[in-house]
Amino acid sequence: MNIFLTGASGFLGTALLRDLLLKGHSVTALVRPRHGTTVRHYLGCRLSEYDPELPLNKYLDKTLHVANGDVSHKNFGLNAKEYLHYANSADILIHNAATTVLDTDWKVYEQINIGGTREAIKFASHTRQKSIVQTSSAYVAGDRTDTVYEDQLDLAVGFRNNYERSKAISESDVRNAGATEGIRFMILRPSIIIGDTQSGRMSEDHHLFNFILRLFWARQMIYKRLNASRTQHDDRFRILGNVDVTKNFIPVDYVAHLISILIETKGAWGKSFHLTHPHPIRLGTLGTYIQRAMDWPGFTLCPMETTKDLSPLERRFFRTIKIYEQYFWDEPTFDQSQLKAVLGKRLTNPSPISQEAVNRLVRFVLEKFQSRKNIR
Ligand SMILES: NC(=O)c1ccc[n+]([C@@H]2O[C@H](COP(=O)([O-])OP(=O)(O)OC[C@H]3O[C@@H](n4cnc5c(N)ncnc54)[C@H](OP(=O)(O)O)[C@@H]3O)[C@@H](O)[C@H]2O)c1
Repeated sequence: MNIFLTGASGFLGTALLRDLLLKGHSVTALVRPRHGTTVRHYLGCRLSEYDPELPLNKYLDKTLHVANGDVSHKNFGLNAKEYLHYANSADILIHNAATTVLDTDWKVYEQINIGGTREAIKFASHTRQKSIVQTSSAYVAGDRTDTVYEDQLDLAVGFRNNYERSKAISESDVRNAGATEGIRFMILRPSIIIGDTQSGRMSEDHHLFNFILRLFWARQMIYKRLNASRTQHDDRFRILGNVDVTKNFIPVDYVAHLISILIETKGAWGKSFHLTHPHPIRLGTLGTYIQRAMDWPGFTLCPMETTKDLSPLERRFFRTIKIYEQYFWDEPTFDQSQLKAVLGKRLTNPSPISQEAVNRLVRFVLEKFQSRKNIR
Protein backbone atom coordinates (compact mmCIF):
# COMPACT_ATOMS: atom_id res chain seq x y z
CA MET A 1 0.00 0.00 0.00
CA ASN A 2 0.90 3.66 -0.28
CA ILE A 3 0.48 4.97 3.22
CA PHE A 4 0.51 8.55 4.45
CA LEU A 5 1.64 8.55 8.09
CA THR A 6 1.55 11.38 10.61
CA GLY A 7 3.51 11.27 13.88
CA ALA A 8 6.19 9.07 12.27
CA SER A 9 8.99 10.62 14.31
CA GLY A 10 7.37 9.79 17.66
CA PHE A 11 7.73 6.83 20.02
CA LEU A 12 5.08 4.64 18.40
CA GLY A 13 5.52 6.27 14.97
CA THR A 14 9.14 5.14 14.51
CA ALA A 15 8.33 1.54 15.50
CA LEU A 16 5.34 1.53 13.17
CA LEU A 17 7.20 3.16 10.29
CA ARG A 18 9.95 0.55 10.59
CA ASP A 19 7.39 -2.29 10.42
CA LEU A 20 5.57 -0.75 7.45
CA LEU A 21 8.82 -0.35 5.52
CA LEU A 22 9.96 -3.89 6.34
CA LYS A 23 6.61 -5.17 5.08
CA GLY A 24 7.19 -3.47 1.73
CA HIS A 25 4.70 -0.62 2.01
CA SER A 26 5.51 2.79 0.55
CA VAL A 27 5.22 5.46 3.20
CA THR A 28 5.09 9.22 3.05
CA ALA A 29 5.74 10.57 6.54
CA LEU A 30 4.50 14.01 7.54
CA VAL A 31 7.07 15.54 9.88
CA ARG A 32 6.83 19.00 11.39
CA PRO A 33 9.65 21.42 10.63
CA ARG A 34 12.39 21.78 13.24
CA HIS A 35 15.09 24.30 13.94
CA GLY A 36 18.57 23.50 12.67
CA THR A 37 17.80 20.31 10.79
CA THR A 38 15.76 19.03 7.88
CA VAL A 39 12.69 16.89 8.47
CA ARG A 40 14.35 14.14 6.45
CA HIS A 41 17.45 14.12 8.67
CA TYR A 42 15.37 14.34 11.85
CA LEU A 43 13.18 11.41 10.87
CA GLY A 44 16.25 9.39 9.81
CA CYS A 45 17.83 9.99 13.24
CA ARG A 46 14.65 8.98 15.09
CA LEU A 47 14.37 5.79 13.02
CA SER A 48 18.01 4.88 13.59
CA GLU A 49 17.65 5.46 17.33
CA TYR A 50 14.79 2.98 17.39
CA ASP A 51 16.50 0.44 15.11
CA PRO A 52 20.20 1.08 14.56
CA GLU A 53 20.29 -1.91 12.16
CA LEU A 54 17.68 -0.54 9.76
CA PRO A 55 19.37 0.20 6.39
CA LEU A 56 17.92 3.69 5.92
CA ASN A 57 19.47 4.16 2.47
CA LYS A 58 17.52 1.19 1.23
CA TYR A 59 14.28 3.07 1.94
CA LEU A 60 14.87 6.84 1.87
CA ASP A 61 13.58 8.42 -1.36
CA LYS A 62 12.56 4.95 -2.58
CA THR A 63 9.75 3.64 -0.42
CA LEU A 64 10.10 6.31 2.27
CA HIS A 65 9.36 9.94 1.48
CA VAL A 66 9.23 12.78 3.95
CA ALA A 67 6.81 15.69 3.75
CA ASN A 68 7.36 18.87 5.73
CA GLY A 69 4.12 19.81 7.49
CA ASP A 70 2.16 20.34 10.65
CA VAL A 71 -1.16 18.65 11.41
CA SER A 72 -2.50 21.66 13.28
CA HIS A 73 -2.29 23.83 10.14
CA LYS A 74 -4.83 24.04 7.36
CA ASN A 75 -4.05 21.35 4.76
CA PHE A 76 -1.27 20.13 7.09
CA GLY A 77 0.63 23.30 6.11
CA LEU A 78 1.23 21.89 2.61
CA ASN A 79 0.64 23.97 -0.51
CA ALA A 80 -2.42 23.05 -2.58
CA LYS A 81 -0.43 21.13 -5.18
CA GLU A 82 1.55 19.09 -2.64
CA TYR A 83 -1.56 18.45 -0.59
CA LEU A 84 -3.52 16.93 -3.44
CA HIS A 85 -0.49 15.07 -4.74
CA TYR A 86 0.13 13.38 -1.38
CA ALA A 87 -3.55 12.71 -0.67
CA ASN A 88 -4.37 11.37 -4.13
CA SER A 89 -1.35 9.08 -4.24
CA ALA A 90 -2.01 7.55 -0.80
CA ASP A 91 -4.30 4.56 -0.36
CA ILE A 92 -4.87 5.26 3.32
CA LEU A 93 -3.89 7.74 6.02
CA ILE A 94 -2.60 6.57 9.39
CA HIS A 95 -3.14 9.52 11.70
CA ASN A 96 -0.84 8.96 14.63
CA ALA A 97 0.38 12.49 15.45
CA ALA A 98 -0.77 14.05 18.70
CA THR A 99 0.53 15.95 21.63
CA THR A 100 0.87 13.39 24.41
CA VAL A 101 1.71 15.92 27.11
CA LEU A 102 -0.75 15.44 29.96
CA ASP A 103 -0.88 18.93 31.45
CA THR A 104 -0.82 21.61 28.79
CA ASP A 105 -3.39 24.25 27.82
CA TRP A 106 -6.67 23.16 26.32
CA LYS A 107 -5.85 25.37 23.32
CA VAL A 108 -2.90 23.11 22.44
CA TYR A 109 -5.09 19.97 22.51
CA GLU A 110 -7.67 21.81 20.44
CA GLN A 111 -5.12 22.76 17.82
CA ILE A 112 -3.06 19.57 17.59
CA ASN A 113 -5.24 16.68 18.73
CA ILE A 114 -8.72 17.86 17.75
CA GLY A 115 -7.87 20.28 14.93
CA GLY A 116 -5.19 17.89 13.64
CA THR A 117 -7.69 15.03 13.50
CA ARG A 118 -10.22 17.20 11.65
CA GLU A 119 -7.53 18.01 9.09
CA ALA A 120 -6.69 14.30 8.95
CA ILE A 121 -10.32 13.38 8.21
CA LYS A 122 -10.35 15.93 5.39
CA PHE A 123 -7.06 14.56 4.03
CA ALA A 124 -8.39 10.98 4.23
CA SER A 125 -11.40 11.95 2.13
CA HIS A 126 -8.97 12.64 -0.75
CA THR A 127 -7.04 9.36 -0.42
CA ARG A 128 -7.70 6.60 -2.94
CA GLN A 129 -9.53 4.42 -0.44
CA LYS A 130 -11.02 7.35 1.54
CA SER A 131 -9.59 5.70 4.63
CA ILE A 132 -8.27 6.82 7.99
CA VAL A 133 -6.63 4.75 10.71
CA GLN A 134 -6.80 6.76 13.91
CA THR A 135 -4.43 6.15 16.80
CA SER A 136 -6.70 6.82 19.71
CA SER A 137 -6.12 5.69 23.30
CA ALA A 138 -7.57 3.10 25.66
CA TYR A 139 -7.90 5.99 28.13
CA VAL A 140 -10.72 7.60 26.14
CA ALA A 141 -12.62 5.51 28.71
CA GLY A 142 -11.76 8.27 31.20
CA ASP A 143 -12.35 7.39 34.85
CA ARG A 144 -14.47 4.29 34.21
CA THR A 145 -13.52 1.32 36.34
CA ASP A 146 -15.76 -1.37 34.81
CA THR A 147 -15.27 -3.35 31.61
CA VAL A 148 -14.91 -1.13 28.56
CA TYR A 149 -15.90 -2.57 25.19
CA GLU A 150 -14.11 -1.59 22.02
CA ASP A 151 -17.08 0.07 20.34
CA GLN A 152 -18.05 2.12 23.41
CA LEU A 153 -17.25 5.80 23.54
CA ASP A 154 -18.93 8.18 25.95
CA LEU A 155 -17.90 11.82 25.89
CA ALA A 156 -19.84 12.43 29.11
CA VAL A 157 -17.55 10.29 31.33
CA GLY A 158 -15.15 12.01 33.71
CA PHE A 159 -11.71 12.47 32.16
CA ARG A 160 -8.55 12.54 34.27
CA ASN A 161 -7.09 15.28 32.10
CA ASN A 162 -7.62 17.24 28.91
CA TYR A 163 -5.37 14.90 26.96
CA GLU A 164 -7.87 12.07 27.49
CA ARG A 165 -10.76 14.40 26.63
CA SER A 166 -9.07 15.57 23.41
CA LYS A 167 -8.38 11.98 22.32
CA ALA A 168 -12.02 11.04 22.99
CA ILE A 169 -13.32 14.01 20.98
CA SER A 170 -10.94 13.18 18.11
CA GLU A 171 -12.08 9.56 18.12
CA SER A 172 -15.69 10.67 18.11
CA ASP A 173 -15.02 12.98 15.14
CA VAL A 174 -13.51 10.09 13.18
CA ARG A 175 -16.49 7.83 13.98
CA ASN A 176 -18.90 10.60 12.90
CA ALA A 177 -17.02 11.09 9.63
CA GLY A 178 -17.40 7.34 9.09
CA ALA A 179 -21.15 7.58 9.64
CA THR A 180 -21.88 10.79 7.74
CA GLU A 181 -19.11 11.39 5.19
CA GLY A 182 -18.53 7.87 3.91
CA ILE A 183 -14.97 7.76 5.25
CA ARG A 184 -13.67 4.28 6.01
CA PHE A 185 -12.14 4.27 9.48
CA MET A 186 -10.32 2.08 11.97
CA ILE A 187 -9.80 3.11 15.59
CA LEU A 188 -6.78 1.83 17.49
CA ARG A 189 -6.67 2.21 21.24
CA PRO A 190 -3.32 1.35 22.81
CA SER A 191 -2.95 1.37 26.59
CA ILE A 192 0.27 2.71 28.17
CA ILE A 193 2.94 2.04 25.56
CA ILE A 194 6.26 0.91 27.04
CA GLY A 195 9.73 0.22 25.61
CA ASP A 196 10.64 -2.37 23.05
CA THR A 197 10.27 -6.02 24.13
CA GLN A 198 13.90 -6.93 23.34
CA SER A 199 15.83 -3.78 24.18
CA GLY A 200 13.55 -1.83 26.54
CA ARG A 201 14.31 1.14 24.27
CA MET A 202 11.81 3.97 24.58
CA SER A 203 11.45 7.61 23.77
CA GLU A 204 13.20 9.93 26.20
CA ASP A 205 10.08 12.13 26.07
CA HIS A 206 7.94 9.25 27.26
CA HIS A 207 6.04 9.48 30.54
CA LEU A 208 7.37 6.18 31.86
CA PHE A 209 10.95 7.19 30.98
CA ASN A 210 10.44 10.45 32.83
CA PHE A 211 8.93 8.66 35.82
CA ILE A 212 11.77 6.14 36.16
CA LEU A 213 14.32 8.93 35.63
CA ARG A 214 12.77 10.88 38.50
CA LEU A 215 13.02 7.77 40.67
CA PHE A 216 16.75 7.56 39.90
CA TRP A 217 17.17 11.17 40.99
CA ALA A 218 15.33 10.50 44.24
CA ARG A 219 17.36 7.35 44.86
CA GLN A 220 20.59 9.20 44.18
CA MET A 221 19.62 11.90 46.67
CA ILE A 222 18.78 9.36 49.38
CA TYR A 223 21.98 7.33 48.93
CA LYS A 224 24.11 10.48 48.84
CA ARG A 225 22.64 11.44 52.23
CA LEU A 226 23.14 7.95 53.63
CA ASN A 227 26.74 7.84 52.43
CA ALA A 228 27.39 11.19 54.08
CA SER A 229 25.85 10.15 57.41
CA ARG A 230 27.09 7.58 59.91
CA THR A 231 23.83 7.37 61.82
CA GLN A 232 21.22 7.10 59.07
CA HIS A 233 20.61 3.76 57.40
CA ASP A 234 17.07 4.20 56.19
CA ASP A 235 16.72 4.17 52.39
CA ARG A 236 12.92 4.15 52.66
CA PHE A 237 11.04 5.81 49.80
CA ARG A 238 7.30 5.45 49.41
CA ILE A 239 5.00 6.19 46.51
CA LEU A 240 1.30 6.25 47.12
CA GLY A 241 -1.01 4.14 45.01
CA ASN A 242 -3.51 1.31 45.08
CA VAL A 243 -1.31 -1.78 45.08
CA ASP A 244 -4.22 -3.96 43.93
CA VAL A 245 -5.09 -1.96 40.84
CA THR A 246 -3.74 -3.15 37.48
CA LYS A 247 -1.71 -1.08 35.04
CA ASN A 248 -2.07 -1.91 31.41
CA PHE A 249 1.37 -1.67 29.79
CA ILE A 250 1.96 -2.75 26.22
CA PRO A 251 5.34 -2.89 24.42
CA VAL A 252 5.78 -0.50 21.51
CA ASP A 253 6.91 -3.19 19.03
CA TYR A 254 3.81 -5.27 19.82
CA VAL A 255 1.49 -2.30 19.16
CA ALA A 256 3.28 -1.54 15.88
CA HIS A 257 3.05 -5.19 14.87
CA LEU A 258 -0.71 -5.30 15.54
CA ILE A 259 -1.31 -2.09 13.59
CA SER A 260 0.64 -3.38 10.61
CA ILE A 261 -1.50 -6.55 10.55
CA LEU A 262 -4.82 -4.76 11.14
CA ILE A 263 -4.40 -2.34 8.24
CA GLU A 264 -4.06 -5.34 5.92
CA THR A 265 -7.21 -6.98 7.30
CA LYS A 266 -10.41 -6.21 5.42
CA GLY A 267 -12.68 -7.07 8.34
CA ALA A 268 -10.92 -4.56 10.58
CA TRP A 269 -12.37 -1.49 8.86
CA GLY A 270 -15.23 0.30 10.61
CA LYS A 271 -14.15 -1.15 13.96
CA SER A 272 -12.22 -0.13 17.07
CA PHE A 273 -9.62 -2.22 18.84
CA HIS A 274 -8.09 -2.27 22.28
CA LEU A 275 -4.36 -2.73 21.68
CA THR A 276 -3.90 -3.59 25.32
CA HIS A 277 -2.28 -6.30 27.44
CA PRO A 278 -4.62 -9.22 28.19
CA HIS A 279 -2.78 -9.78 31.50
CA PRO A 280 -2.05 -6.35 32.99
CA ILE A 281 0.34 -6.18 35.91
CA ARG A 282 -0.74 -5.32 39.48
CA LEU A 283 0.69 -2.01 40.64
CA GLY A 284 2.03 -3.71 43.80
CA THR A 285 3.90 -6.28 41.69
CA LEU A 286 5.26 -3.52 39.48
CA GLY A 287 6.53 -1.76 42.62
CA THR A 288 8.37 -4.92 43.69
CA TYR A 289 9.89 -5.36 40.23
CA ILE A 290 11.07 -1.74 40.20
CA GLN A 291 12.50 -2.14 43.71
CA ARG A 292 14.58 -5.12 42.57
CA ALA A 293 15.50 -3.64 39.18
CA MET A 294 16.80 -0.48 40.87
CA ASP A 295 18.43 -2.39 43.72
CA TRP A 296 16.60 -0.16 46.19
CA PRO A 297 15.27 -2.20 49.15
CA GLY A 298 13.54 0.84 50.71
CA PHE A 299 11.37 1.53 47.66
CA THR A 300 7.70 0.64 48.16
CA LEU A 301 4.24 1.44 46.88
CA CYS A 302 1.90 2.26 49.76
CA PRO A 303 -1.78 2.92 50.23
CA MET A 304 -3.04 6.47 50.84
CA GLU A 305 -3.24 6.12 54.66
CA THR A 306 0.50 6.78 54.94
CA THR A 307 0.19 10.25 53.35
CA LYS A 308 0.55 12.06 56.67
CA ASP A 309 4.01 10.82 57.60
CA LEU A 310 5.64 11.19 54.18
CA SER A 311 9.15 12.68 54.33
CA PRO A 312 9.76 16.07 52.68
CA LEU A 313 11.52 14.29 49.79
CA GLU A 314 8.64 11.83 49.31
CA ARG A 315 6.16 14.69 49.45
CA ARG A 316 8.13 16.72 46.91
CA PHE A 317 8.45 13.73 44.61
CA PHE A 318 4.75 13.07 44.89
CA ARG A 319 4.01 16.63 43.84
CA THR A 320 6.26 16.34 40.76
CA ILE A 321 4.51 13.18 39.58
CA LYS A 322 0.97 14.46 40.17
CA ILE A 323 0.08 14.04 36.48
CA TYR A 324 0.94 10.32 36.63
CA GLU A 325 -0.44 9.71 40.11
CA GLN A 326 -4.01 10.01 38.75
CA TYR A 327 -3.38 6.63 37.11
CA PHE A 328 -2.25 4.90 40.34
CA TRP A 329 -5.70 4.39 41.83
CA ASP A 330 -7.94 2.61 39.35
CA GLU A 331 -8.16 1.22 35.85
CA PRO A 332 -10.96 -0.40 33.86
CA THR A 333 -10.75 -3.78 32.15
CA PHE A 334 -10.24 -3.38 28.41
CA ASP A 335 -12.29 -5.96 26.54
CA GLN A 336 -10.64 -7.27 23.37
CA SER A 337 -13.45 -9.32 21.79
CA GLN A 338 -13.32 -7.44 18.48
CA LEU A 339 -9.55 -7.73 18.18
CA LYS A 340 -9.76 -11.47 18.90
CA ALA A 341 -12.63 -11.97 16.43
CA VAL A 342 -10.97 -10.02 13.61
CA LEU A 343 -7.43 -11.38 13.97
CA GLY A 344 -8.26 -14.92 15.11
CA LYS A 345 -5.13 -17.10 15.14
CA ARG A 346 -3.00 -14.20 13.93
CA LEU A 347 -3.39 -12.58 17.35
CA THR A 348 -0.35 -13.52 19.40
CA ASN A 349 0.04 -12.62 23.06
CA PRO A 350 2.38 -9.82 24.04
CA SER A 351 5.26 -10.90 26.27
CA PRO A 352 4.41 -10.71 29.97
CA ILE A 353 5.36 -7.67 32.04
CA SER A 354 7.85 -9.75 33.99
CA GLN A 355 10.77 -8.87 36.25
CA GLU A 356 13.04 -9.21 33.19
CA ALA A 357 10.87 -6.82 31.17
CA VAL A 358 10.98 -4.22 33.97
CA ASN A 359 14.77 -4.77 34.32
CA ARG A 360 15.16 -3.94 30.62
CA LEU A 361 13.15 -0.72 30.93
CA VAL A 362 14.98 0.37 34.08
CA ARG A 363 18.36 -0.53 32.55
CA PHE A 364 17.58 1.55 29.47
CA VAL A 365 16.70 4.59 31.59
CA LEU A 366 19.73 4.01 33.86
CA GLU A 367 22.09 4.05 30.87
CA LYS A 368 20.66 7.38 29.75
CA PHE A 369 20.75 8.68 33.32
CA GLN A 370 24.38 7.67 33.79
CA SER A 371 25.35 9.32 30.57
CA ARG A 372 24.03 12.55 32.10
CA LYS A 373 25.26 12.08 35.68
CA ASN A 374 27.30 9.72 37.81
CA ILE A 375 25.20 7.98 40.38
CA ARG A 376 26.01 6.26 43.68
N1 LIG B 1 2.57 6.66 24.42
C1 LIG B 1 1.48 6.09 24.88
O1 LIG B 1 1.50 5.48 25.97
C2 LIG B 1 0.18 6.15 24.10
C3 LIG B 1 -0.90 5.41 24.58
C4 LIG B 1 -2.10 5.42 23.89
C5 LIG B 1 -2.21 6.16 22.72
N2 LIG B 1 -1.15 6.89 22.28
C6 LIG B 1 -1.31 7.65 21.04
O2 LIG B 1 -0.39 7.14 20.10
C7 LIG B 1 0.05 8.18 19.23
C8 LIG B 1 1.55 8.25 19.24
O3 LIG B 1 1.97 8.51 20.57
P1 LIG B 1 3.51 8.54 20.98
O4 LIG B 1 3.63 8.00 22.34
O5 LIG B 1 4.33 7.95 19.90
O6 LIG B 1 3.73 10.11 21.08
P2 LIG B 1 5.04 10.96 20.79
O7 LIG B 1 6.27 10.18 20.99
O8 LIG B 1 4.85 12.21 21.59
O9 LIG B 1 4.93 11.29 19.25
C9 LIG B 1 3.97 12.17 18.75
C10 LIG B 1 4.23 12.38 17.29
O10 LIG B 1 3.31 13.36 16.80
C11 LIG B 1 4.07 14.39 16.17
N3 LIG B 1 3.38 15.68 16.28
C12 LIG B 1 2.97 16.29 17.40
N4 LIG B 1 2.40 17.47 17.08
C13 LIG B 1 2.46 17.57 15.74
C14 LIG B 1 2.04 18.56 14.82
N5 LIG B 1 1.44 19.69 15.22
N6 LIG B 1 2.25 18.35 13.49
C15 LIG B 1 2.86 17.22 13.06
N7 LIG B 1 3.28 16.25 13.89
C16 LIG B 1 3.09 16.44 15.21
C17 LIG B 1 5.39 14.41 16.90
O11 LIG B 1 6.36 15.10 16.14
P3 LIG B 1 7.73 15.64 16.81
O12 LIG B 1 8.72 14.54 16.64
O13 LIG B 1 8.03 16.84 15.99
O14 LIG B 1 7.44 15.97 18.23
C18 LIG B 1 5.64 12.93 17.00
O15 LIG B 1 6.07 12.42 15.76
C19 LIG B 1 -0.64 9.44 19.71
O16 LIG B 1 -1.78 9.66 18.94
C20 LIG B 1 -1.00 9.13 21.15
O17 LIG B 1 -2.11 9.89 21.57
C21 LIG B 1 0.06 6.90 22.94
